[in-house]
Amino acid sequence: MVAHVKALTSPYPGSRVERWPVPEEKVSWSVNWPEYQPVEYTAPSVLAQPPWADPPQSSEGFCPQYNALDGKVQRSSFEGTYEVMNGSPRNPSGRTGVIGRGLLGRWGPNHAADPIITRWKRDAAGGKVEHPDSGRPLLQFVAIQRKDCGQWAIPGGMVDPGELVTAALRREFCEEALNSLERTGGEPDTEQKIRSIFSQEHLLVYRGYVDDPRNTDNAWMETQAVNYHDETGHILDTLALQAGDDAGKVQWADISSSCSLYANHAQFIQLVAEKRGAHW
Ligand code: RP5
Ligand code: MG
Ligand code: MG
Repeated sequence: MVAHVKALTSPYPGSRVERWPVPEEKVSWSVNWPEYQPVEYTAPSVLAQPPWADPPQSSEGFCPQYNALDGKVQRSSFEGTYEVMNGSPRNPSGRTGVIGRGLLGRWGPNHAADPIITRWKRDAAGGKVEHPDSGRPLLQFVAIQRKDCGQWAIPGGMVDPGELVTAALRREFCEEALNSLERTGGEPDTEQKIRSIFSQEHLLVYRGYVDDPRNTDNAWMETQAVNYHDETGHILDTLALQAGDDAGKVQWADISSSCSLYANHAQFIQLVAEKRGAHW
């Protein structure tokens, strides 16, 4: 079970909904708590049933196959088998103070992909910059500022039904950090660079539950965070970053323990720094 903290904060994102307060010792479902009366909330944008959202549980003909690949929708969790109580899937990390789906489309796990694109920070002469305290080289990653909350984050997004995670990683990076949805007829040079970065060895740094502020008792985020690294910096140095889709800004950010990021993205970034022998 992965701890959640941000998934317990109020108000619920994009609303005035206050979560039922859940003290740390009552987060676990194994603790009996008959007084628990979570608030029900599903955002109007989800109730409008866009293509990425499930219908309400009571809808006729809606029979989701939990803990399985349900048609093209992946309802298995990386955290193992989750419980389904009276037809409602239960968050594997415990109580959140809200039932329903909030802003999330799927009952149960909502699968995302987080591409962590890195290079070494270099000085004007091309040498690696070391941090004076640790003596370790500084790594940089492509960070976006989310439009929904203003927090800096990895340019990740949802894996579409039937989509390969490798395709989602590349698509989300292009949409959020290169504005591919608005930039028509991408320059061949950019496409070549993207191909060479994403065809590299895929370093899976994390797979599982995300401590996302949108999580509820019945709907939660899970992700696969993957690092693609440009060792020489030659591929990425001339790549023109441009924010797009749900990203308001994009930039190369220095990686260190003072990074304050959305959800538990700082934890994923720390894993990359450790695997690459970089400063944290
Ligand atoms: C986080 O939300 C994931 O780690 C991923 O970065 C992101 C996906 O949601 P959207 O960016 O599509 O809102 O939980
Ligand atoms: Mg996106
Ligand atoms: Mg996104």
